[in-house]
Amino acid sequence: MNNGDTLHEKSGKANFDLIYDLEDPREYFNVLREFDYCIPRHGQRLFSSLIEARRQEAEERPLRIVDICCSYGVNAALLKYETTLDDLYDRYGSENLATLSSEELAEADAAFYGERRREEAPEVVGLDVAGNAVSYGIHSGILDAGFAENLEGKEPSDALCQAVSEVDLLSVTGGVGYISELTFQHLLDCVSGDRMPWVAVFALRWVSYEEISEALSAYGLVTEKLEGHTFTQRRFIDSEEREYVLEELSRMGVETTGKEDEGWYHANFYLSRPAAEAKVPVEKLLGL
Ligand SMILES: C[S@@+](CC[C@H](N)C(=O)[O-])C[C@H]1O[C@@H](n2cnc3c(N)ncnc32)[C@H](O)[C@@H]1O
Repeated sequence: MNNGDTLHEKSGKANFDLIYDLEDPREYFNVLREFDYCIPRHGQRLFSSLIEARRQEAEERPLRIVDICCSYGVNAALLKYETTLDDLYDRYGSENLATLSSEELAEADAAFYGERRREEAPEVVGLDVAGNAVSYGIHSGILDAGFAENLEGKEPSDALCQAVSEVDLLSVTGGVGYISELTFQHLLDCVSGDRMPWVAVFALRWVSYEEISEALSAYGLVTEKLEGHTFTQRRFIDSEEREYVLEELSRMGVETTGKEDEGWYHANFYLSRPAAEAKVPVEKLLGL
């Protein structure tokens, strides 16, 4: 897979897979904090603007997001509750919570998030292959619903299809490369009626988004790349990873000065909307 986070499986170093499917999110946050993983922070800002824009045209119901590669519900926590990524790093790294069992942590989380619910919180349905992570997201109340399915190789279950049938926004942080156009196609096939969701995705700059945007166009969705902005995802683990990525980007003709060459993965942001709803350019919509 052409994803930054699997690179080190190839070179035999860090393997983030180990933290993706644990009984609770403590290790996930503690490991990723070391590398300043921060793309969900950018997601919180941009997805929130899109939620506002969509809300203006939605009916009287909570806005529904399907967060693909949701993990323990990181984006859901940031979008539904008054909290920040730094709060989450502090919370899951705190000594006070270190001795709790996963079950006790889920209970503590339910209380923590229960007190912080945003007034117009969207409904967030999570999708991830990691069954334990999705279960945690549901039990702690972070996710409204969750599905542990791999749509790269399989059709969605009826229950997932039903949950996606009236979705306003599909979101992804840190997932492109793990998922391809197949996952998007399976999800969009579940959408009922003619109200297509918007699709908002951060994808690392060295990962091609072409196949996905082409697949989305078959559903009438026009993809725009946000120009003039890139978003830090995380620091490189070491110089080997850095050199590898810089070489790949140079081969692709991508200028890395002031970005990857400073030690960080950078992601592009893509927004896909039905042509009739894509009148306001993405920069303006996001206030950038
Ligand atoms: C880097 S993490 C990103 C998690 C979260 N979106 C965030 O930004 O914190 C990548 C996630 O993709 C999930 N994943 C890998 N392959 C997948 C697939 N085929 N379908 C859905 N999720 C997948 C992993 O289990 C993991 O939770």
